[in-house]
Parts: sequence; structure tokens; C-alpha cells
Amino acid sequence: MIYTVTLNPALDRTIEVEGLVKDDANRILQEARYAGGKGIDVSRVIKELGGESIALGFIGGYDGLELEGRLINEGVLCDFTRIGGETRTNIILNNRREKVQIMLNAAGPEITPTEIGLFFQKLSSILPNAEFVVVSGSVPPGVNHNIYAQIITTLKGTGIRVALDADRELLRQGCKATPFIIKPNIHEFQRLTGLRSQRVKDMLKQARHLVEEGIKIVLISMGAKGIMGVREEVAYWAVPPQVEVVSPVGAGDSTIAGFIYALSRGMDFKESLTLAVAAGTAAVLTPGTELCKREDIERIKGQSRVEKL
Ligand SMILES: Nc1ncnc2c1ncn2[C@@H]1O[C@H](COP(=O)(O)OP(=O)(O)OP(=O)(O)O)[C@@H](O)[C@H]1O
Ligand SMILES: [Mg+2]
Repeated sequence: MIYTVTLNPALDRTIEVEGLVKDDANRILQEARYAGGKGIDVSRVIKELGGESIALGFIGGYDGLELEGRLINEGVLCDFTRIGGETRTNIILNNRREKVQIMLNAAGPEITPTEIGLFFQKLSSILPNAEFVVVSGSVPPGVNHNIYAQIITTLKGTGIRVALDADRELLRQGCKATPFIIKPNIHEFQRLTGLRSQRVKDMLKQARHLVEEGIKIVLISMGAKGIMGVREEVAYWAVPPQVEVVSPVGAGDSTIAGFIYALSRGMDFKESLTLAVAAGTAAVLTPGTELCKREDIERIKGQSRVEKL
């Protein structure tokens, strides 16, 4: 089984208004709610590809219950750890007249040490069942930035392969615990390694350093340029076709989902990279928070190239 981890999920509320006026009521034209979170999106894409996963993380309060209910209704399996605080709500305000989007993002509830302990208990209980664990995104207040390193360390030696998609301290400390896979975008990779250039030769050198330190697979995503995939014996560059971008939201999550799903089905490194790049590029074709569609992935897979470096 594939497990995904979203420690700071959100109940996203999208609100449409014609325009905004001060000191008067603004009528909401349309309103939608959506279970948001990077690990949750990975679970959605795995489902779209025909696979199965279970979403883990923290939820609390009525909004947490609604988030869980929405996921169950979508057919996404979940096994959250309940907390005393309330799951956060992010507000996305679309102003039709001015064609602008305002996003109001909450920090998330404070997690207590006991609740963190409960999450790690849950993590230990999945050990017999898990093949992959995908850890993505930011963490709520009260959670130490070495938590991803602790998750990786807890799963070490069990044969479970952990994929890490995070930024800054979460990524830096996570890497020290040597996850199986990391998937930074180029900016996250540059922050991690201190690299300034985007030359293939320089990127490859830095990625190989990480592989020498024990990370088995380094995937660096570069938007429209595709993905550099490096492992001990071989490195590839996966290039997607040129497409018209509708919304880039969820591209990174779709990439990691495509890659993990492919590995779980026994595909080799090159095939897995092809599915990863196709899923990422398919995600930019859909509007708003919508993720990739299976038929787009299939089509783009055939239009993508993978070159050996
Ligand atoms: N403009 C684009 N055209 C084609 N494909 C794209 C484009 N932007 C992203 N992609 C696809 O999505 C993948 C991941 O994109 P990107 O490198 O932007 O990830 P990210 O920054 O981690 O995204 P996220 O913000 O979702 O975490 C790319 O490897 C590519 O396959
Ligand atoms: Mg990303």
C-alpha cells in the first residue's frame, strides 16, 4: 500500500464575487469547499491513475470532519489522527470584475506533543502494510522541522520506501535521514545545495552528491523543462511536450504521484520518469485546483521524451 502524509491539510473555500466594495455588503455568487493538501493531492492522482493509497495526517474540529467526509466521498481512503484544534480553512477569493484572485492562508492549528505521539503510533501501525510513504508540504505550528527526518528514521530498515517533497529546513533535515526519493523543484534544489546555476553539469554534480550520501533517487522538477532524474548508476532528463498552461496548481504533486504509482506497479526508472513528467504536465492543463486527468496523462506520455545524461 502507498501512504501519503499531509500534516497540515486545509478545507479550502473558494468564493466568487462580481467585485468588492468597501463599507457595504458584497454578494457571494458562488461558493465551493474542497479538501486541500499536498499529500492529499498525491492520493487523488494515484487514484486517478488506477492505484490505491491511504492519506494520513492531522484533522480536527468540524472542518476536519468535513475534510475527511469530502475525501471519503471522492473515494480517497484516509486514516487521520484526530487533534483538539480545528483544521485550518484557506480562503480563495475570485474577483470576477478585476480578474484577480486573493488567497488567505491560515497557519493551521497548534499540534500538541501528545497528538504528535499519536501520529507516530499510527505510523508504526502501518509498517506491515506499507510499501511507499509520500511525505509532502508544510507543517502546522508546534511541529518541529525535523519531523520528516523523524518519520524517515522511524521507517528506516523496514523496507518501506519514503518519498520526500518539501522545502527549506523540512527538506534539509529530511535529507540527512536519507529518504529513498526527494522531489525538489529547481528553486528548492538550489536552496538545499547552495547551487546558483541551472546548468545540467552543475545540477548533476550536486544531485550525485546527494545520491552518494544515501538518497537513492533525486528528481528535480523544472516546470516546462521537465525533470532531471538521478540515481546511482544512471541519470535522465524527461522532457514534456509544449502545452498551454491553464493552472499550474498541483503539478509537483502529480509528478511525485505518477512516479510512485509507476514504481509500485513495477515500472523501471525510465518508465516511471515518463509517467511522472506526463502526470505533472497533464496537471497544468486543468483549471484551478483540478488535478491531472488520466486520458491527458496517457496522451502526454506518448509525446514526452526521456534522454540519457
Ligand atoms: N509550464 C509547464 N508546461 C509543461 N509542463 C509543466 C509546466 N509547469 C509544470 N509542468 C509539469 O509539472 C512538473 C512539476 O512542475 P514544477 O517543477 O513547477 O513543480 P513544483 O514547483 O514542485 O510544483 P508545485 O507548486 O505543485 O509543488 C514538471 O516536471 C512538468 O512535467
Ligand atoms: Mg513542489
